[in-house]
Amino acid sequence: MAKILEKQVLRSDLVTAKIAAPEIAKSAKAGQFVVIRVDEHGERIPLSLAAINPEEGTLGLIVMTVGVTSSKFAALNVGDEVLDVAGPMGHCTPIENYGRVALVGGGFGAAPMYPIGKALKAAGNTVTSIIGARSADLLIYEKELGEFSDQVLVSTDDGSKGHKGLVTEVLKDEIEKNGVDWVMAIGPAIMMKFVSLTTQPYNVKTFVSLNPIMVDGTGMCGACRVSVGGKTMFGCTDGPDFDGHQVDWDLLMSRQRSYLDEEKVAMENYQCNCVPSAK
Ligand SMILES: Cc1cc2nc3c(=O)[nH]c(=O)nc-3n(C[C@H](O)[C@H](O)[C@H](O)COP(=O)(O)OP(=O)(O)OC[C@H]3O[C@@H](n4cnc5c(N)ncnc54)[C@H](O)[C@@H]3O)c2cc1C
Ligand code: FES
Repeated sequence: MAKILEKQVLRSDLVTAKIAAPEIAKSAKAGQFVVIRVDEHGERIPLSLAAINPEEGTLGLIVMTVGVTSSKFAALNVGDEVLDVAGPMGHCTPIENYGRVALVGGGFGAAPMYPIGKALKAAGNTVTSIIGARSADLLIYEKELGEFSDQVLVSTDDGSKGHKGLVTEVLKDEIEKNGVDWVMAIGPAIMMKFVSLTTQPYNVKTFVSLNPIMVDGTGMCGACRVSVGGKTMFGCTDGPDFDGHQVDWDLLMSRQRSYLDEEKVAMENYQCNCVPSAK
């Protein structure tokens, strides 16, 4: 059991929570994730670490509501408990002094970028954080990333803040104007694919945090298979970070859609309260 100590609703589809998980917080590193089960009817879902505080014994999580389990998590309040939290899982992001690094966050991705960016800054890098959203009111983590970034660049689809357009245009501009030695992207697969396609012609090493469907998170079930450089890898035990230039993006995205029909039915049942969870 892990108690929710703090909760904040960032947007209608995004909540952050601080949970008590002292054993995990002791050994977790930026870039790793946990697998949680909200209640006894729930499935196991992986969530990245948006904050790690070993002194306090707490972890920060961010959850985007896309289906039943994420909606159940978002409905929890301070004082409620998550049934189980397993971790830390996966490899941590390799933190080195690369020189000029650019971090690109989309969707919930700006939050797990926070501990990674902080560690990269502490390692001596010049850090540019790039975040994007449809409009200014949907941007998250601009202030938090500003705590350590040398600059935070923003793009919005409607031009209500920063560059009008896509994060990839901002990234391309930054590579051409100032030069970038290393890129990390976290967010929807489609965004990470286009970040990788943007950096490839410039030969800038690009790490992406992949989000295939995971079940056990320990390399046993094979649900998280991805193809990287023509080799089959497990997102949970070989990743979650991979070289974005080597990822078979179309395969990843088609595997992410494997259970769409079942997920739709489960969400309809959850919303009409017919059964606790159809999963
Ligand atoms: C390493 C990793 C870290 C992640 N970190 C975060 C995070 O910090 N915040 C966040 O909001 N989301 C994160 N995700 C995605 C998150 O796990 C899914 O959104 C969640 O599992 C959806 O479950 P659901 O029941 O709410 O939705 P469902 O209706 O079950 O699924 C909606 C979509 O989510 C994806 N999904 C479903 N089940 C899983 C699963 N077990 N594992 C992975 N993806 C799944 C599928 O693409 C699916 O189509 C991460 C995924 C991975 C692999
Ligand atoms: S989640 Fe089962 S092998 Fe990776």
